[in-house]
Amino acid sequence: MSDIFRTRLAKEFDDRVARYHTSTVEDLRMFEEDIDGTMAHDIMLHEQGILEQEDLALILGALQEIKEEWKAGKLTIGAEYEDIHPFIEARVIEKIGIEVGGKLHAGRSRNDQVMVDMKMVSKKELLAIAENVLALIKTLGELADKHTETPMVAYTHGQQAQITTYGHYLCAYIDQYMRDYKRIKQCYDRVNYNPLGSAAIAGTNFRINRLRTAELLGFDNIQTNSMDAVSSRDWAIEINSVLSILMANMSRMAADMVMWAGAEFQYIRLSDEYSSSSSIMPQKINPSTLELIRGKTAEVYGGLQEALTMVKGLPTGYYQDLQQTKITLWRVFDTTRTSVEVLNGAIATLTVNEDKMLEQTKGSFIYAVQLAEVLAEETLSFREAYKVTAGVVNNLVADGRTMEELTAEDVQKVAKELFDKDIKVSSSIADKVSNPIKALNNLRSPGSPHPAETAMAVENRMELRERYWKEFDFLKIKLVIAADNLKNAIARYTA
Ligand code: ARG
Repeated sequence: MSDIFRTRLAKEFDDRVARYHTSTVEDLRMFEEDIDGTMAHDIMLHEQGILEQEDLALILGALQEIKEEWKAGKLTIGAEYEDIHPFIEARVIEKIGIEVGGKLHAGRSRNDQVMVDMKMVSKKELLAIAENVLALIKTLGELADKHTETPMVAYTHGQQAQITTYGHYLCAYIDQYMRDYKRIKQCYDRVNYNPLGSAAIAGTNFRINRLRTAELLGFDNIQTNSMDAVSSRDWAIEINSVLSILMANMSRMAADMVMWAGAEFQYIRLSDEYSSSSSIMPQKINPSTLELIRGKTAEVYGGLQEALTMVKGLPTGYYQDLQQTKITLWRVFDTTRTSVEVLNGAIATLTVNEDKMLEQTKGSFIYAVQLAEVLAEETLSFREAYKVTAGVVNNLVADGRTMEELTAEDVQKVAKELFDKDIKVSSSIADKVSNPIKALNNLRSPGSPHPAETAMAVENRMELRERYWKEFDFLKIKLVIAADNLKNAIARYTA
């Protein structure tokens, strides 16, 4: 019996329409959550005096059997079902009859049912991604700690800008991923409201206890307004948003790494397990895994766009349009979760070539800011010092010399020419400003690549990560406790 509610309709769905209309394929991902949701709802109905204990026991028994059949791979659900909800209800009715099985759905609708299912799946997925993000942060912290004194060129406009370190670069991403974690956690907190018991849109006559189903299903509270609960999808849009931002951060990092793996840089070498080769060019070692992180970011952005478009102009209430939300949401979860995992693995296993990073700093003018700042400490204003330094750089470039070869006279000459000033310049000026380690140690601003500053940042972020981990673990424990509560209640009522 596939149909339990086409009672007003004389004919079955046209075959093509049925296939077009069904959401059973994407619903499979929430099969167990759907059963748990029904069990919690019916336990609550019994506790509220709406469902007899014997009836509840029969319903719970049938649902447990169906769950086992599902886990054993014994169930196939075709397009003759609109979605998994009537499939499960029909199967219960098949097992225990409509007189008892027909009581299972009292006081709810598929509209709140699908919301609670989706939210339960989403919560697990958000936690899995949060866990991966915290693992990625740890990997980055360990690597950054080793490279607080690894000089590297920092770029603006694709041009060599200032001296930095590889550790400082990694810390920049640690901070971004910390914010990503926090966004996921805050998003989780907003998803964590129970929509079940809202019924189709405007509640039910049954005196239900929505807090009780919230408790049994691991929600912090109820999503109070029944219209809000079935109609809104801002929570799904928010998930798509926070995951899009996470992907954006990873995509950008992947772009750096793809570039740095190239022969022009050779800063890093991905491990073989993360590299591919070419079918024609025998020399190739391609960082294609990271290119895919970039590529798959587009897919996640697509999910956000789709979710936003889904609700634009959609009148308030439940509309079938909303059924489509799942398809992209599941894909966004899978793509994001695996992308974080892969990026973490790629970083944990890569080889860093510090010599190449250092080599790139040689003969570069990345110390120009620091030269100007040293000059501005004495008699010149910053703008005068800037102009003197620019003149010095011009002269060095014209002579084919580098900043490492800079002399005090080079500087004094330009200061005299431009401002008619005789300035004092240390004879060790070249070493003072263009020795990478000294230049790094001269940086005094908070958040700069000064090695001690970076070391402190790593330590501080790793401590914060520990706190985030505990917070995350607590969320996981709360779900385990809820699952336990549900299990115990089922055991009590089926005994
Ligand atoms: N399959 C639907 C969805 O995924 C849920 C059921 C709502 N359908 C309905 N006719 N009210 O959104």
